[in-house]
Amino acid sequence: MVPIRGMVYICLCFLVFLQLTSVKCDTPANCTYEDIKGTWIFSITQINGDNEINCTTETEYVTKYKVTLDFPNFAVDEYGNHGHWTMIYNQGFEIQINNKKFFAFSYYKKEGRTVESLCHATFSGWVHNIDEKFWNCYMGEKTMTPAIPKVRQLQNSYYHVSDEFISAINTNQSSWKAIRYPQFDQMKVFDVIRMAGGKRSGKTFPKIATASGELLRACRILPKEFDWRNHKGSNYISPIRNQGSCGSCYAFGSMAMYEARLRIITNNTIQKVFSTQDIVSCSEYSQGCDGGFPYLIAGKYGQDFGLIEEECFKYEGRDMPCIQSTCQRHYTQDYYYIGGFYGACNEPLMRAELVKSGPIAVSFEVYDDFMYYKSGIYHHVQELEGKFNPWEITNHVVLIVGYGEENGEKFWIVKNSWGTEWGEDGFFRIRRGTDECSMESMAVGIQPSL
Ligand SMILES: *[C@@H]1O[C@H](CO)[C@@H](O)[C@H](O)[C@H]1NC(C)=O
Ligand SMILES: *[C@@H]1O[C@H](CO)[C@@H](O)[C@H](O)[C@H]1NC(C)=O
Ligand SMILES: *[C@@H]1O[C@H](CO)[C@@H](O)[C@H](O)[C@H]1NC(C)=O
Ligand SMILES: *[C@@H]1O[C@H](CO)[C@@H](O)[C@H](O)[C@H]1NC(C)=O
Repeated sequence: MVPIRGMVYICLCFLVFLQLTSVKCDTPANCTYEDIKGTWIFSITQINGDNEINCTTETEYVTKYKVTLDFPNFAVDEYGNHGHWTMIYNQGFEIQINNKKFFAFSYYKKEGRTVESLCHATFSGWVHNIDEKFWNCYMGEKTMTPAIPKVRQLQNSYYHVSDEFISAINTNQSSWKAIRYPQFDQMKVFDVIRMAGGKRSGKTFPKIATASGELLRACRILPKEFDWRNHKGSNYISPIRNQGSCGSCYAFGSMAMYEARLRIITNNTIQKVFSTQDIVSCSEYSQGCDGGFPYLIAGKYGQDFGLIEEECFKYEGRDMPCIQSTCQRHYTQDYYYIGGFYGACNEPLMRAELVKSGPIAVSFEVYDDFMYYKSGIYHHVQELEGKFNPWEITNHVVLIVGYGEENGEKFWIVKNSWGTEWGEDGFFRIRRGTDECSMESMAVGIQPSL
């Protein structure tokens, strides 16, 4: 590495050397915006000096810091803090984020008269607080493929969304409307990700199955719209609940399905609410606050162990020891993936199941924009993907309770478990027929025992 303080010297040298070609006194680095945009790892010293700090001699880098520089000038760090950045011509870049300013020149190598501009690295640069206190030195290296921040690194910062993101969602499309939810700003990133279903372990969603001509013909008799919240004047859907920051969506989706289907088969004479804490604490078919699947909960757990009512083990929204209950247990008679097996699902089959037997539990991919849904027919705004948040796509579980069409756009009506303040009184609508967010790839139905 060429020492940074030596740079001026090199530069002058260069100037003298090439003065006939009238090179300006900047470094030989020639970095483009595209070269710099992306994810960087900064290695930082721990000196806390002042502006007298000598970054040529300070080479003991003790901490790592990851920051992503995005279009057009957004920066976001591994903790979810937002800031801004700028190129300085083709020479280097400055970032202001998390009350700090970083600046370093882009790296280059010079051998004789040939200069190699190495824009994926920096010389030793300077970082200090905006009030000019606490100086340190750092060295930057760009990761070649932008790395996805790990949940582990995110857990301690608050989830904060930029207003730019909300307004970008609202200006990029008109099907749905986004708002800021103050309750999310008070949550840690880790908790929000858990609330949205937790980190995915690889690509879990199958492709949707092709609907046969026969199926499509059979589905023509289905109503054009349908809603279990108002079916022939009756509501068969149990109240909206709030899972809090435990990754227990799968338990809520599962119980919601059981509750609704029990109401349906008893003509609304049995209106029970079932214990989600029992699932979180007692089920070995799922991972407590770290996730699970309706197939194994509303289905298999309900069949093997049975479900208890909410009063028997009230929801606390955290991992806690199982309380063995003497309450009556309610069993699941049958459970199945729509289509018969994992990978056989599609939209007409889902509608048929919904109308015939009741609401269906689905897993789907949550992108960062979904969190801010307020109303309308949701679809993921792909143009904004990755531009604002270091979000990891999660698997969330919800309950489809109906479907319809508005201004030529088909939608599902879906019950969420984020309280009644979120979305359309706790529900949302999402594009139907296009496997939006893998919504139509993995649906589950059950049959409660009476
Ligand atoms: C710097 O890079 C740009 C884009 O690659 C190129 O057009 C320009 O000629 C380069 N300038 C120098 C001085 O090498
Ligand atoms: C920093 O240290 C280097 C190496 O000892 C020295 O050559 C340089 O003059 C120092 N720079 C400043 C600004 O003190
Ligand atoms: C979508 O949002 C991006 C980022 O804010 C903006 O650059 C772009 O112009 C927007 N597109 C439309 C069609 O509004
Ligand atoms: C179902 O409940 C509704 C409303 O309470 C009632 O009008 C209807 O007769 C019931 N149906 C049956 C089959 O009992």
